[in-house]
Amino acid sequence: MNLIDQARFFIVYPVDLEDLGLVELKEKFVQHFSADSLTLVKIIPGGIEIECPLHIGLSLNSVLRTPTRILLRLGEFKCRDAPKLFQKISKFNWSPWLIGQTPEIESATSNSRLFDSRKIEKAIQDGVIQYYRHKPVKKKYLGHFEKADKKVLPTIYFRAVDDVCTISLDTTGERLHLRGEKILTGLAPIRESLAALLLIELKTHLAPKDYTLIDPMCGSGTFLLEALNANAVTVEREFSFLHTPVVLDNFTAMQKIHSSGLRAFKNLIGFEINSEVVSMANRNCKDTDIKIEQADLFDGKPNKIENSVVVINPPYGIRVGEKGEINLAYYLKIIENVKNKFEPEILGIIIPADNKIKSIPNFTIHSIRPFKNGGIEVLFYVLKNIRL
Ligand SMILES: C[S@@+](CC[C@H](N)C(=O)[O-])C[C@H]1O[C@@H](n2cnc3c(N)ncnc32)[C@H](O)[C@@H]1O
Repeated sequence: MNLIDQARFFIVYPVDLEDLGLVELKEKFVQHFSADSLTLVKIIPGGIEIECPLHIGLSLNSVLRTPTRILLRLGEFKCRDAPKLFQKISKFNWSPWLIGQTPEIESATSNSRLFDSRKIEKAIQDGVIQYYRHKPVKKKYLGHFEKADKKVLPTIYFRAVDDVCTISLDTTGERLHLRGEKILTGLAPIRESLAALLLIELKTHLAPKDYTLIDPMCGSGTFLLEALNANAVTVEREFSFLHTPVVLDNFTAMQKIHSSGLRAFKNLIGFEINSEVVSMANRNCKDTDIKIEQADLFDGKPNKIENSVVVINPPYGIRVGEKGEINLAYYLKIIENVKNKFEPEILGIIIPADNKIKSIPNFTIHSIRPFKNGGIEVLFYVLKNIRL
């Protein structure tokens, strides 16, 4: 296997948001690689399967902001029992991918005779060890294995559907929403990759002009940081693919990728009621042009900002303990206050799914997208201000 060979990847996304992931995928191919090096194989719930040169697929870990992780597809075969799985694995060509570790296994099965995760794990691990017996790992890789942090070595993903088994290698390691730089978080922060996906949704409703993005309940500043870094390249992280023979041998041939510097919003402004959270957000945003101030959305002071877009992830009253007053009337009050305070062109707001909004004074509903945020069913409403 060579870095320029075609390879098949499965890019994992939160269910129901795959189409937004595809928007980013296409954009980033245009920015960093040649657009025609991407072949779209299929989109299924939970991810997108693509084909592209191996080095590009691996590099997607640094340029994509929206996936959960990126798996490299290694093989597919029919198999109904553990002894056959062991056989298949022991004959598989592991030389380009493993450096002497007994890999961790993640398995998922449906409607298959192989379903016991402990048996699957044992058959795969024993199969890999059997492979090493016949084809011992080269000393240079064993040396790398000795020194490597074992937590970042690639996990093998096993999936069986109707007795058809797919073997993949995780190229990512810790989930991709961890950007490398550690950020301080307030209560109930939204996961970075989800924020990046929702910003893509919002962008699809915007005209090509300079907008100011406002988050009036910004917490630790996730939306603002994701908007700022939408085209950044993650360099501070150690991805699992770095610990494979094919990359260790050819690392210098991996293309250096630079951030394009493009940004979707000209100005980024956040407000937050809790002073401790404000100072946390300011620390997260230091050395950036993001402005964060302490303010109560309900204080009644108008702050009209030309060409503005508001994004908001209000409390749900489920995780944070604020029960009682958090209901449909609360979300309608937020929308009314956003309207009176900022007069935005567009408002994107996440609302728990049991608070469906049918109509809203002064706004038209542009889109409603259901998804899960931290296990809670929610809806992302994009509303357009009809008074402007
Ligand atoms: C669910 S969290 C949003 C978290 C944020 N999106 C993040 O990722 O960190 C809601 C935030 O709204 C803040 N908040 C609640 N009521 C507010 C109000 N009336 N005005 C401004 N902020 C408020 C809370 O302190 C909390 O930080």
